[in-house]
Amino acid sequence: MSDQLQAELHFPPGFLWGTSTAAHQVEGGNHNDWTAWEDMGGGRIFEDQVSGAACEWWSGRAEEDFDRAAGMHNNALRLSVEWSRVEPEPGRWDDAALARYRAMIEGLRARGLEPMVTLHHFTNPIWFTERGGWASEEAPRLFAQYARKVADALGDLVTLWCTINEPMVYATQGFLQGYFPPGKQDLGLTLKVATNLARGHAAAYHAIKPDHPTAQIGLAKHQISFVGYTPILGHFGAWLLNYLFNEAFFGAFSRGQIRWLSARPEAIPGGLGTLDWVGLQYYNRYHIRVNLTKPEMLYLENFVPDGLPHGPDGWGELLPEESLPRIKHLYKLTGCPIYVTEMGVPDIDDSIRPGYLARTLRSVWQACMHNMPVKGFFFWSLVDNFEWAEGYDPRFRFGLYGMDYATQARTERRSARLYRAICAENALTAAIVREHAPEALDKVFPQPAVAAQG
Ligand code: FCB
Repeated sequence: MSDQLQAELHFPPGFLWGTSTAAHQVEGGNHNDWTAWEDMGGGRIFEDQVSGAACEWWSGRAEEDFDRAAGMHNNALRLSVEWSRVEPEPGRWDDAALARYRAMIEGLRARGLEPMVTLHHFTNPIWFTERGGWASEEAPRLFAQYARKVADALGDLVTLWCTINEPMVYATQGFLQGYFPPGKQDLGLTLKVATNLARGHAAAYHAIKPDHPTAQIGLAKHQISFVGYTPILGHFGAWLLNYLFNEAFFGAFSRGQIRWLSARPEAIPGGLGTLDWVGLQYYNRYHIRVNLTKPEMLYLENFVPDGLPHGPDGWGELLPEESLPRIKHLYKLTGCPIYVTEMGVPDIDDSIRPGYLARTLRSVWQACMHNMPVKGFFFWSLVDNFEWAEGYDPRFRFGLYGMDYATQARTERRSARLYRAICAENALTAAIVREHAPEALDKVFPQPAVAAQG
């Protein structure tokens, strides 16, 4: 049809297109604080499942998934290195593990995929947790030693380093909510752990940079949208949560200190100026009201009002258009180049994901047009994988490729075809959306209303 919409949203030249993964969720056969937590049973993980073989990346299937990424015209991929493999005992480095990571990263490069390597994605060696883990003062130093070792082994192949994934999620899930190991519920400890993660980032930055001056070192920060539901207290609660969860951590790099709730700031030695880039991970929005039965949550409750689209369980409101304000906010906080290091949606049958992805990318494109320095986009995730406390719960499938865990067979989803078309063109076009996500066409390319004639 000649009067069909022809709009094309082009991304900047050199934009990185990839997917995001994490070692523990795809490798299989790990031995770390998460596998110990999984083995404890007791309802910690959905149906007491264990990560087990996961997607069998370690034993050889990583490369076949890299083929899928390359087949989608991706030019980048984010993966993580598992600390417990590289340093199975304090100070003992496993050269074979480093060689396997080297082979994987060579495999990425051979396929034209720029690697982004995360050094900490939620898991820790058991020996490290036995020494106090991230609550211990020695954590930043131990983490920096490991970071240096990995950078020395892989630095000739890797430019983009992501020290820590979602520090505030790690701290709150493990030490406030108790859903992740070590399962604590203690606000003071949560803030201590978050502080040490910032110190860990700074220490790792200084451990890597001198010998690898071209390394671009950042971290991936989960940003949640909070909106006040009730007039005064709800709005104040949303402001407070936004400050504590989204903003305070960045004081480490802009001022060399973090100011949590107390008047006395926490010093982050060497923190100033240690972000070469920042990663945005955005998934959902929550509405905030007061709940006097939740002292551990500062008497606040996050929820999704009836009638708004939301994910399974407490996943939150699905609002991809929030990507634009989240990018702007993160830029305002850091002034850094931005990579979207994760965005995605749990969607069992891929009925939501294509539209969600197209709407997200419209927002990311708008950010580029507003002169935000967005350098790349990594969708979560390449293939379904072990989703932490949700285990292999079918409602928490995130892959562009679906997975049959009994056979390890991967199935291409409609979302994968959509992403392939977008990455191939470096553009989100009306033709692509019409073909692969027609349900989202009106949202991605809203048409102005035409006044009735006559
Ligand atoms: C993020 C995590 C990632 C994955 C997605 C769904 O918070 O970084 O590992 O679990 O959520």
